[in-house]
Amino acid sequence: MTKEKINQIYQEFRSKLSSVQENKKIEQLKIDFLGKKGKITHFLKNIGTLAEENRREVGKFINEIKTKSEQAINEKFQDLKKGIFEREKIDIHLTGKKNQIGQTHPLIGVRDEVLRFFNQMGFVTVAGPEIETDYYNFQALNMAEGHPARDGQDSFYLKGNHLLRTQTSPMQIRVMEENQPPLAIVSPGRVFRRDTLDATHSFCFHQVEGLLLDKEVNFCHLKAVLTSFCRKFFGKELKIRFRPDYFPFTEPSCEIAIQYPERNDGWLEILGAGMINPLVLQNCGLDYKKYSGFAFGLGLERIAMLIYDIKDIRLFYENNFSFLKQF
Ligand code: PHE
Repeated sequence: MTKEKINQIYQEFRSKLSSVQENKKIEQLKIDFLGKKGKITHFLKNIGTLAEENRREVGKFINEIKTKSEQAINEKFQDLKKGIFEREKIDIHLTGKKNQIGQTHPLIGVRDEVLRFFNQMGFVTVAGPEIETDYYNFQALNMAEGHPARDGQDSFYLKGNHLLRTQTSPMQIRVMEENQPPLAIVSPGRVFRRDTLDATHSFCFHQVEGLLLDKEVNFCHLKAVLTSFCRKFFGKELKIRFRPDYFPFTEPSCEIAIQYPERNDGWLEILGAGMINPLVLQNCGLDYKKYSGFAFGLGLERIAMLIYDIKDIRLFYENNFSFLKQF
């Protein structure tokens, strides 16, 4: 047993220790070298066999080696523990996923603003069905079967004389059938037409219908209400144009446009409106000699596109978060 031999065993121990990475294996090394039958312990046990003159020096050397080995084992345990801790810390951050917080869709935001405007004027919000009968969607609105005005609203037909409503106007009929004047309602909702999807058309879009019915309502009332609507949403300075139009359920009818320099003719249609056709009042069992009123309809997409300068209607329906979070 020489110092050289002892050192050799110690080096073997260090090189093995540096290559192990598991607690179990360190534990095994401890047994192999420092355990009861361990290689380093073996030297200790045999100090007695050394020649008298060497015993002191070599004994001291073995004890130093034993202490250093024990320290190395403890350090290795600590390092391993730290390493695991560091790895866990990183893992926690890597697997974290951010929650995206939703917000009001621009169409819903504009719809609510429009409704608030009319509610403040005394119009009450009512909801109607998206699946309608031919009667409510067309016939009661003075669009009998074969009426040419139906062509512009080519629709999705369902079984049993039902269809996806092409306009919110059937709500005029439903409200007038069930209620007595004075009446003032607004009715928002989805409508459907067999249109091909492009930047300005969609098979499904959103309208808000309005109706006011009372005694002695005339065109001035219509003009005042809808002018203040346009002023509120598109500015006081803008010019507003009223032009005759045709809808079977209003008489006379008009189209309301605002100044819009981006268009060739400088105008953009915003609303359809008119005085309720006496025939429609009759269809609802109301006395057209006693009552008169006006109705209007607007498209929410067009208004939202104008307000937010959105050029493609399809963006509203794609639910792309980077688009939606701008509003
Ligand atoms: N329903 C008509 C349309 O969709 C709009 C309208 C509503 C016109 C009410 C007049 C009165 O085109």
